Amino acid sequence: MAASRYLLSIGDLTSDDVRNLIDNALKMKRGAIAPEFAGKTLALLFEKPSLRTRVSFEVAMRQLGGFSLYLSPEEVGLGKRERISDVARVLSRYADVIAARTFSHQTVRELARHAGIPLINALSDEEHPCQALGDLLTIQEKKGTLKGLKLAYIGDGNNVARSLLLAASLMGTSFIIASPANYGIPESTWQTARKNAARNNCEVTATLHAKSAVEKADVVYTDVWTSMGQEPEADIRRRIFAPYQVNKDLLGAARTDALFMHPLPAHHGEELAEGILEDPRSVVFDQAENRLHIQKAILQKVLS
Ligand code: CP
Ligand code: NVA
Repeated sequence: MAASRYLLSIGDLTSDDVRNLIDNALKMKRGAIAPEFAGKTLALLFEKPSLRTRVSFEVAMRQLGGFSLYLSPEEVGLGKRERISDVARVLSRYADVIAARTFSHQTVRELARHAGIPLINALSDEEHPCQALGDLLTIQEKKGTLKGLKLAYIGDGNNVARSLLLAASLMGTSFIIASPANYGIPESTWQTARKNAARNNCEVTATLHAKSAVEKADVVYTDVWTSMGQEPEADIRRRIFAPYQVNKDLLGAARTDALFMHPLPAHHGEELAEGILEDPRSVVFDQAENRLHIQKAILQKVLS
């Protein structure tokens, strides 16, 4: 399977790929270029709920002249009503590209193995590449650069954190995560990120201490403590993660011009204090909008 037709992980991309995606998304946002997807169909195959990912993909296809088809978990029964490999082969006969949101990352891999058409990971338990790329686009817009910046991620070493670590290290953005013991980013992701960081002159590190992580940070980023599929652990996670809440006190320890970012949905009063989304440092709604622009660039890349 040709790597350029798939986006399963940020690990599938080079620094040049990420730079080109951001540049193209910026051009599309300005209206300077508009790829033509007339007659193209995107199948959105989702095992989990979504607001941003579903709507931004649907609007992207509509604005570029194509069509999208949302397939809910109840309709498809991926791996239950029908084998994953059969779903992939059938969809390939109707659609031109698939965006899949799954519980297990193995499901995305299996879909990609059997699909004869491009496939985009729209969030799995391991990664959320569309989110990380949209986030870098937002930082690039707000700060004018990615190189030499410091991003402090506070909280769970989840899908969003992993994709962001890989993407930041490809672009020369230093990344530090503050998370409780046993809730960090897996070693396999660190290995790739350390190699990226060495090539791109930045640092990737982990700490247990939220306050020290945000010192001199240009970006303070957090995500939910309990991701979709982990709901039975929500109570214990609320207790373990309590010292990792992003509030005015923690934000005040970052640079005065730091950005606050969150992929949304947010749990106000948990990973972020009430009122933080409305803080002047918060760029979360620009971040949400940029999912639309970056996904147009991603669609263009995999469809070309
Ligand atoms: N950030 C994000 O992916 O949001 P949704 O789960 O609503 O798609
Ligand atoms: N980590 C979160 C991100 C949601 C966009 C989850 O997987 O539920």
